[in-house]
Amino acid sequence: PRDVGIRALEVYFPAQYVEQTELEAYDGVSAGKYTIGLGQSRMGFCNDREDINSLCLTVTSRLLERYEIKPRDVGRLEVGTETIIDKSKSVKTVLMQLFEPHGCTDIEGADTSNACYGGTAALFNAVAWVESSAWDGRFALVVAADNAVYSIGNARPTGGAGAIAILVGPDAPLVFDRGLRASCMRHAYDFYKPNMRSEYPTVDGKLSIRCYLSALDNCYQLYREKVKRKSPGENPVTLTNFNAMLFHSPYCKLVQKSFARLAFIDFLNTPESQIPDSYKDAVKFHAAKLEDTYFSQDIEKMFMQLSKADFEQKTQPSLLIANQVGNMYTPSVYSGLVSLLISKPISELAGNKVGIFSYGSGLCSSLYSLTIARDTREGSGLSKIISALSYVKSQLEGRHCVSPKDYTEVLASRERNCHVVPFTPQSSIDDMFPGTYYLTQVDEQYRRTYKRV
Ligand code: ACO
Repeated sequence: PRDVGIRALEVYFPAQYVEQTELEAYDGVSAGKYTIGLGQSRMGFCNDREDINSLCLTVTSRLLERYEIKPRDVGRLEVGTETIIDKSKSVKTVLMQLFEPHGCTDIEGADTSNACYGGTAALFNAVAWVESSAWDGRFALVVAADNAVYSIGNARPTGGAGAIAILVGPDAPLVFDRGLRASCMRHAYDFYKPNMRSEYPTVDGKLSIRCYLSALDNCYQLYREKVKRKSPGENPVTLTNFNAMLFHSPYCKLVQKSFARLAFIDFLNTPESQIPDSYKDAVKFHAAKLEDTYFSQDIEKMFMQLSKADFEQKTQPSLLIANQVGNMYTPSVYSGLVSLLISKPISELAGNKVGIFSYGSGLCSSLYSLTIARDTREGSGLSKIISALSYVKSQLEGRHCVSPKDYTEVLASRERNCHVVPFTPQSSIDDMFPGTYYLTQVDEQYRRTYKRV
């Protein structure tokens, strides 16, 4: 099959959020720490009506309906998540409730997990299936979702919640570049979830940042090398090769630092004699070793300044949802793709090369790229995806604000009820977006039932 890539995209975030300025005041930290220091404006969250199954049911059914995809057109369905409520039964099997009534049970795939990377692992599997001898001509559907919550403390403002559904098939308007992926996989205890009785991760914040940046360094250098091997005659890859660069976003400030880091790597890869005048103040850093510079404030500050205009052009547009909802974990980097598509005019997006860096603690990471189609005519694949996403901005604005006190109580009640059965959720369903699935009950046998608004 030709031009294997993304044929449809749907994003979902809960209908309530907490304002980060209010959270700063409530937590008693200095004003600006979460909003300026972390770069976050609002944080979406789930009350007791939503769980990983409902998030996935919502986003999947919305995609099928919006694009009029028939259940029989899907031959592979895989969920990437780190929100585990069952150690055996996959979320994918729960989603089969949307297919079984139509007589469709011949659908490959099961769940995939490693922190925020599970969605990317699932996506790579979907692409591999479409390109393989097992492919039967149908679409692959990748669903990534999480409820990202942290215990009380400095990580809590970096939570979020949401889901994404990505339809993969041939002749796509967003085409994955073939033979061009760079991965970095390692063993690290930076962020992990060993406590089965809690929704919260065990986090070493500083180590997780170091791991993230080091994985980025590795993937970027390797991606460059792979391009060089593939096309030896061409100029080496730098940020100039990309029209847009997307990152997994734990919080937006880390993404800006990551972009600056790539500019720093480009600078280190430039022979001293070819360093442009605009970089002359940075020459003193030219002999630096990447691994010694994760927390160098001088280098970080200088390259954030030097790359600012480029960041605003290539990455800032992709941070709309990340800034408004927070870290959704597995959907995060793909919410970046949605944000990009709704933030620029279609004529500016046509033909773009988009770099994508996906990171999941523990750790798994990959950098790969896709190319946006050039056909921008009405009715083209690209224009269909973009117009289908026109609801996103108004839904972000249509959410309702919850006070930090009530937010904290919602999380405390989730803690009390974690794995408690039987359980009947108490939160109102009145403000949910139309088409949202919600939990009605967990019975004595831990079986969950859902209804739809
Ligand atoms: N105005 C403006 N900026 C401020 C203010 C203020 N009033 N107060 C603090 N800041 C800045 C700080 O200078 C710092 O910026 P800098 O890093 O550019 O210097 C930033 O705000 C954050 O402040 P810190 O004191 O570093 O924050 P803290 O250590 O309390 O927590 C952390 C940050 C570690 C990221 C925490 O939120 C966390 O553990 N989050 C979860 C882990 C995570 O997201 N890791 C990232 C990769 S792994 C993943 O995806 C899960």
